[in-house]
Amino acid sequence: MRLLTAGVALAAILMAAAPVAQAKEIVIKFSHVVAENTPKGQMANKFRELVAERLAGKARVEVYPSSQLFSDSKVLEAMLLGDVQIAAPSLSKFKKYTKKLQVYDLPFLFKDMDAVSKFQAGPAGQKLLLSAKKKGLIGLGYLHNGLKQLTASKPLKVPSDVEGLKFRIQPSDVLQAQFEAVKAVPLKKPFSEVFTLLQTKAIDGQENTWSNIYSKKFFEVQEYATDSNHGLIDYLVVTSVEFWDGLPADIRTEIKKAMDEAIVLGNKVAAEKAISDRQKVIDSNRTKVLQLSDDERAQWVAAMKPVWAKFEKQIGKDLIDAAVASNN
Ligand code: LMR
Repeated sequence: MRLLTAGVALAAILMAAAPVAQAKEIVIKFSHVVAENTPKGQMANKFRELVAERLAGKARVEVYPSSQLFSDSKVLEAMLLGDVQIAAPSLSKFKKYTKKLQVYDLPFLFKDMDAVSKFQAGPAGQKLLLSAKKKGLIGLGYLHNGLKQLTASKPLKVPSDVEGLKFRIQPSDVLQAQFEAVKAVPLKKPFSEVFTLLQTKAIDGQENTWSNIYSKKFFEVQEYATDSNHGLIDYLVVTSVEFWDGLPADIRTEIKKAMDEAIVLGNKVAAEKAISDRQKVIDSNRTKVLQLSDDERAQWVAAMKPVWAKFEKQIGKDLIDAAVASNN
């Protein structure tokens, strides 16, 4: 009898323990399109490391860089289908999900990255994190890359230099309008195709940050770059509402903490690489980096800024004003 009671008790203990022992490790796939030696690449790897340290056995991050898992045109659809849990697409890639983020694409909006940080940390920037929530996506935070530069197969000093040239752009209507405003021919193409398009001369130029120009070797296939700082590439670190809300609360808190810390590291890398990767491009002697005089810069501003008015309705004047105010 006693043996039977002990047996029943043991079975009860084992059954109670079973769900814990069987609790499945949560796998978080993080897909991105850039190289690992970039702000986003470093941030993703740091996030993986922090989750491994703090949530061992409970959650694990798998990072897929360089469009290995999904290209930028597919990753958000894949996220809504549950095939990837975290991504950090450029803010220029959310057109299907929200028009509000288009604010970040307006040419010559932010005077420097401090202004970008200020806007993102303020109420308007924070509200934008949730601007795609109705479409099933939650922004967990912003990550910096940096200001964009123009690169081309010929020197670009004034707007008329780009007339008729083909430029690869991210899938953004604002960027399309920006290049049309200077009579260039914009082509929306995935990031993974840019190097080959430049190498084969299917396009004449592109716009990107120094870290992307360097890490993806665009400088090896472009004779000129212009220090134009005319726009921004920053990221929305994003997940799906379904995945996020389905996480146990304690794990969700830890993941968010790890993400915030990884973003701090990524932003530091971004600031460093904007300087060091630019220098590496100059030192390579493959690309000549051109400076704009104040007058030349003013010509680009005058030619591109009218684009703002075209998108004011979709974006909202209040949002544009808040972004402009962050320059002060
Ligand atoms: C691009 O497509 O040029 C960039 O958005 C790539 C990236 O993720 O930095």
